[in-house]
Formats: sequence, C-alpha cells, structure tokens
Amino acid sequence: MQAHSMIRQASLAVACIGLLASASNVLAQATGKDVYEQTCIACHGVDGTGVLPGIPDLTEPGGRLTKPEELLIEHTINGFQSPGSPMAMPPRGGNAALTEQDARAVVRYMIDAFGPR
Ligand code: HEC
Repeated sequence: MQAHSMIRQASLAVACIGLLASASNVLAQATGKDVYEQTCIACHGVDGTGVLPGIPDLTEPGGRLTKPEELLIEHTINGFQSPGSPMAMPPRGGNAALTEQDARAVVRYMIDAFGPR
C-alpha cells in the first residue's frame, strides 16, 4: 500500500518537474511579437507600413508577406536587397543575437499581424 502511494507521489513529482521545465522554456523563448518590438519595429513600424521611404509596406496586397514563408525567413536571417532598392534589409534586422528560432517566430508574427488576407 505505502509503496504504491510513494510511487504515485514520485511520478506526480516527475510530472511537475516536466511541466516546470516546459514552462520555463516558453518564458526563455521570445515570442515573435517580442522580437518584432525589440528589433524590427524601428524600421517596419507599429503597423508594418514602414517608417521611411525605401521600407516596403508589408500590409500591401500582393506585397512582401505573400512571398513563401521560408524565403522571408531566409531574407530575415541573411538580409535582402531588391534590385534598385534604396535601402537594404539588414541581416538579422541588425541584431546579431537573433536566432533562427527568433526569425521563424517573428516572420510568423508579421504574417499574422500585417499580412494581406
Ligand atoms: C534598418 C531598417 C530595418 C530593420 C531594423 C529591419 N528591416 Fe526588414 N526590411 C528593411 C528594408 C529596407 C526592406 C526592403 C529591402 C529591399 O527590398 O531592398 C526590408 C524587408 C524585409 C522583409 C521582406 C523581404 C523580402 O523578401 O521582400 C522582411 C520579411 C523583413 N524585412 C523582416 C524583418 C524582420 C523580421 C526584422 C527584425 C528582426 C526586420 N525586418 C528589421 C529594413 C529593415
């Protein structure tokens, strides 16, 4: 009897540790919105329309965010300049600490928040 309930308690404890570990993973990982607000908003603006001439309006129908998501992620990581464009998208938005996971999250956020639907 006692052994049985000890095993139950032990497995409950293990389950709790697992939950805590995944909760702290979520906390440590910046959301796409966090990344956008920290690194991208300076150029792309609160509403995605761009703060300066030369920065594309991401909300435009048929615009940048209609490109394949993987390509947008690649351009976020490696930077991008269209032919004749007066201004380039800097690699990682100019933030060397931006991870691939951040790039994936922020591109998804931009598509959800600003993408033409
Ligand atoms: C210094 C200003 C600046 C910052 C900061 C910046 N961008 Fe950009 N971004 C640009 C410009 C300019 C372009 C258009 C470049 C071109 O087409 O020549 C662009 C284009 C893009 C595109 C479209 C690429 C394509 O294939 O057409 C995406 C996606 C993008 N930026 C994502 C981001 C993300 C994500 C961040 C933050 C991590 C970010 N940008 C930060 C200036 C910036």
